[in-house]
Amino acid sequence: MAFCSSLLSSKLPFIKLFLLLATLKGGVGQSYTSVFSFGDSLTDTGNIFFINQSFQSLFPPYGETFFHYPTGRCCNGRLVIDFIAESLGLPFVQPYLGINITSIEEGVNFAVVGATALDASFFEERGIDNVSTNFSLRVQLDWFKQILPSLCNTSSKCNETFERSLFLMGEIGGNDYNYPFFMLRNIEEIQTFVPLVIKAIASAIKELIDLGAVTVMVPGNLPIGCSAAYLTYYETADKEEYDPETGCLTWLNKFAEYHNEELQKELTRIQALYPHTNIIYANYYNAAMRFYRSPTQYGFTGGTRTACCGGGGPYNYNASAECGQSPLIRACDDPSQYVSWDGIHLTEAAYRLIANAILEETYIQYHSSS
Ligand SMILES: *[C@@H]1O[C@H](CO)[C@@H](O)[C@H](O)[C@H]1NC(C)=O
Ligand SMILES: *[C@@H]1O[C@H](CO)[C@@H](O)[C@H](O)[C@H]1NC(C)=O
Ligand SMILES: *[C@@H]1O[C@H](CO)[C@@H](O)[C@H](O)[C@H]1NC(C)=O
Ligand SMILES: *[C@@H]1O[C@H](CO)[C@@H](O)[C@H](O)[C@H]1NC(C)=O
Ligand SMILES: *[C@@H]1O[C@H](CO)[C@@H](O)[C@H](O)[C@H]1NC(C)=O
Ligand SMILES: *[C@@H]1O[C@H](CO)[C@@H](O)[C@H](O)[C@H]1NC(C)=O
Ligand SMILES: *[C@@H]1O[C@H](CO)[C@@H](O)[C@H](O)[C@H]1NC(C)=O
Repeated sequence: MAFCSSLLSSKLPFIKLFLLLATLKGGVGQSYTSVFSFGDSLTDTGNIFFINQSFQSLFPPYGETFFHYPTGRCCNGRLVIDFIAESLGLPFVQPYLGINITSIEEGVNFAVVGATALDASFFEERGIDNVSTNFSLRVQLDWFKQILPSLCNTSSKCNETFERSLFLMGEIGGNDYNYPFFMLRNIEEIQTFVPLVIKAIASAIKELIDLGAVTVMVPGNLPIGCSAAYLTYYETADKEEYDPETGCLTWLNKFAEYHNEELQKELTRIQALYPHTNIIYANYYNAAMRFYRSPTQYGFTGGTRTACCGGGGPYNYNASAECGQSPLIRACDDPSQYVSWDGIHLTEAAYRLIANAILEETYIQYHSSS
């Protein structure tokens, strides 16, 4: 794996390696003191509440499994970031728009449902007026810079503070493709967005490093060809388009893999440019493919491609009758048997497995290189 070799060649100081080992292992070391995160609905822990109080993830059955009320998270329970925070022994990362500025030492979450890596103007210029928010990565980084004085005042103090912070950069970029794909725009056009999305992510990472970030975890895109929404929008009678093993749309998964490969190449370049940092690629794609390939092994007896909560249709996803939009749209009895929560987002059970895979993989990579 690209990341591993770049890591091996970067001669990390032993102390940092130990820091990662001690913490990602499962909260033993308690060495990370905070998490700062950027992203979209895969990571938003409640910013959406302060933006749009009619958004569907603020209504039941969202949150029914863990928080027992809708927190704004696009899930029945916890997200990957929640499991990561738990494993580091830290509290859930507070949404930026709801923070008390006097208590932000343990981290802040800037992720917003619907956010894109590229700015809203990029989509407007291309007639993709479907973009529901303008909380792009640039906006999220500006928020981070606004709270910076409350965290640290000098470059050396910031370096000290952020050395023990985990920066979670993403998942971001998925919506840059979702919006045009859901409008049935041509894939050749959407493919041209990929280098621009990667560039936006890379420049955000570099800016964070300049501000003192040392450990940056960067998730890739999920296998979108397995998503109930994509399977519904791109349903076809042509059996050849479906992977016989998983039932997912092959060409869409290839698209996600293309983004992920380009992202990994860029991360390898950044790692080489900044040898003192730990740039960790979080392989959400592979982690998820495991359960799309062997669902019953992971307890997904209800299905991998059918949404637990939705308004009917072959994959229980209907863009005009989405989960949370009306009390008439019910969730399945046991969400832990489903991969897909609402057709676009995954269930807590799936996010837990992804988080565990990421934490384990990161641990093994660092362990084998020590
Ligand atoms: C808020 O969310 C609702 C439900 O998804 C949507 O219909 C509405 O357009 C959103 N409002 C804004 C201002 O984005
Ligand atoms: C913010 O936190 C401080 C210290 O914990 C507390 O005294 C203050 O009341 C809080 N402010 C709000 C608006 O919650
Ligand atoms: C986008 O952001 C600007 C500035 O923050 C704000 O004034 C505007 O209302 C936002 N637009 C939308 C559609 O949310
Ligand atoms: C930074 O400086 C400002 C203004 O002097 C002060 O209010 C703030 O508490 C300082 N922040 C930290 C983290 O020291
Ligand atoms: C803080 O870290 C940045 C990035 O590594 C570095 O360029 C800068 O010199 C450091 N500042 C201090 C005061 O050590
Ligand atoms: C977004 O695009 C989809 C697919 O074309 C369409 O059904 C939907 O109405 C659009 N939403 C908005 C807010 O324009
Ligand atoms: C999707 O939901 C709308 C609104 O409830 C309904 O009119 C339509 O028939 C549904 N489509 C499918 C395929 O079930």
